[in-house]
Amino acid sequence: MKTLSNIQQMKQDGEKISMVTAYDYPSAKQVELAQIDMILVGDSLGMTVLGYESTVDVTLEDMIHHSRAVRRGAPNTFVVVDMPFGTVGIDRKTDIQNAIKLYQESNGNALKVEGAHLTEFMQQATAMGIPIVAHLGLTPQSVGVMGYKLQGATKEAAQQLIEDAKAVERAGAVALVLEAIPSDLAKAVSEQLTIPVIGIGAGKDTDGQVLVYHDMLNYGVDRQAKFVKQYDDFSIGIAALEQYNGEVKSGVFPSEAYTYKKQIMSEVEA
Ligand code: KIV
Repeated sequence: MKTLSNIQQMKQDGEKISMVTAYDYPSAKQVELAQIDMILVGDSLGMTVLGYESTVDVTLEDMIHHSRAVRRGAPNTFVVVDMPFGTVGIDRKTDIQNAIKLYQESNGNALKVEGAHLTEFMQQATAMGIPIVAHLGLTPQSVGVMGYKLQGATKEAAQQLIEDAKAVERAGAVALVLEAIPSDLAKAVSEQLTIPVIGIGAGKDTDGQVLVYHDMLNYGVDRQAKFVKQYDDFSIGIAALEQYNGEVKSGVFPSEAYTYKKQIMSEVEA
C-alpha cells in the first residue's frame, strides 16, 4: 500500500497522484487492480449508490457500512473516507467523537472534511492521530448555500481560497481536495502548499486528480459536470439485462449449457 508519506513524496517528486471514488467491494477491487494511488469513499455515494438528490442525507452509518466493503475490496490501497453532512462542525466534543467512530469503524486511512471553518477540528483530530484531508472550492455538502457552480471566480474569492488553503495546511491537513475552481488558481494553490493538492474540475496543474467512479464510467448517472471525462460506458449493461429478460420469457435461457446433466427423478418414488 502507498502510505501517506509515499503520497506526500509523490508531490515532491513531481509524480501525479490518481484518486477515484469507490463505494463497495467490486468497485474497490477494480480500482485497486487498476493501481490507482488512492480511493475516496465519498459521500457522493448518496447520489451514485443510494439515489438521493444530494450528499446531505448520507449518515455516519452509511459511510461506515460502505467503507468497510471498500476496504475488503481494496486491502492495499490508501482509503480516504468522507465525514458526512451534520457530523462535524457541531461542537468540539461531538465532532471528535464522530471522527473517532468513523476512523475506527470504517477501516479508512484518513478522513475528509469540507470547508475552512473546520481548522480547529483539523488541529484537534490531527493531534489525536487522525489524518485529515481538507476539501475546499465547491463543497457539495454546502450546495444548498453555494449551488453547483465555479468557486474562487472573483479576485476576492480567489484570495480567500488561497488563505483558506494555507490555513488548512497549518491546521495539519495531510492533503487538500480542490473542486470546481479556475485552473490558474488551483495551480497557484498547489505551488504554494507543501501538502498534495488533488483537483476535480480544477485543471491539470494540481498534484493529482480525483473523479467519481460512476461519472467516469457512466454508470447510472443522469447528468455530468463539465469536468468529467467519460472513460467507459457501463450503461451498456442495460442491453444485456434486456436480452436476459427476453430470453427468460421466451425460454431460451437456461439452455442445456447452463443446466446440470444429472437426472434423478427415475430413482425417486413420487
Ligand atoms: O464525495 C465525493 O465524491 C467528493 C469528490 C467530489 C471529491 O467529495
